[in-house]
Amino acid sequence: MSANLLILGGTTEASALARTVAERGLTATFSYAGRVNSPRPQPIPHRVGGFGGVEGLAAYLRDHNISHVIDATHPFAAQMSWNAYHACTQTGVPLVALTRPPWQARDGDDWTHVPDMARAVAAVAGAPKRVMLALGKLHMEDFAAQPDNHYVLRLVDQPETPPTLPHHTVTVARGPFTIEGDTALFRAQGIELVVCKNAGGAGAEAKLHAARDLGLPVVMIDRPDLPPRDEVATVDGVFTWIDAH
Ligand SMILES: NC(=O)c1ccc[n+]([C@@H]2O[C@H](COP(=O)([O-])OP(=O)(O)OC[C@H]3O[C@@H](n4cnc5c(N)ncnc54)[C@H](OP(=O)(O)O)[C@@H]3O)[C@@H](O)[C@H]2O)c1
Repeated sequence: MSANLLILGGTTEASALARTVAERGLTATFSYAGRVNSPRPQPIPHRVGGFGGVEGLAAYLRDHNISHVIDATHPFAAQMSWNAYHACTQTGVPLVALTRPPWQARDGDDWTHVPDMARAVAAVAGAPKRVMLALGKLHMEDFAAQPDNHYVLRLVDQPETPPTLPHHTVTVARGPFTIEGDTALFRAQGIELVVCKNAGGAGAEAKLHAARDLGLPVVMIDRPDLPPRDEVATVDGVFTWIDAH
């Protein structure tokens, strides 16, 4: 049977994988959740939207004769990753995750690690300050529980309805970001604290360099629990894994 891949995407790494898949002429479909208004175009066919939980994904795998699933979602997209794990276990379709190691604090970093979003919200309590929320749109409203801070929100799209945070600035931008750009943004916005997820990878790392250079503290949200699947760290590793499965 020739390979018919399903790539669960939404990351820089997933797009890099799609480019190589296209160059190699493999049959594959790229799947987007549909969270952003205009997803990056891909050089392979794509689909958009949820599958309908584990059962929906299992049915998709069967109906489309998928031979391999490559989970190249963001490390915080835990629901999708667990669904992929259960659907692949159910259907017997081999699953691999294209992952990136978490960021590690270096000399000069001032990070407070928190296990989840609720603790991140608690960590911005105290005297009002200007906080960079590099978290995407899903959780920004959680910070309404600490309404005295001024929040700078970096989002891929302009929000359709204004955030309910009493004091905020929206900046619309899509990664990958640069150290110069992030340093300039933090300076211009008078940022005093950065809140982010431990995504790992290069595309969003610039903010950590900028925070270090400016001596800013960072609230680092640690990764959620992810399923016990095969993992590779490079696009080449995906092809080696496919050859073995
Ligand atoms: N979470 C982040 O910080 C973050 C950052 C950058 C990019 N992203 C990307 O944004 C997307 C959504 O992230 P999330 O954290 O909202 O995910 P999530 O909470 O794990 O997923 C929620 C639901 O969205 C659907 N979904 C998620 N990823 C999908 C995909 N690639 N293709 C089709 N359906 C998908 C699934 O719906 P059904 O159950 O109906 O199948 C899933 O159960 C992911 O593709 C992820 O790679 C996330």
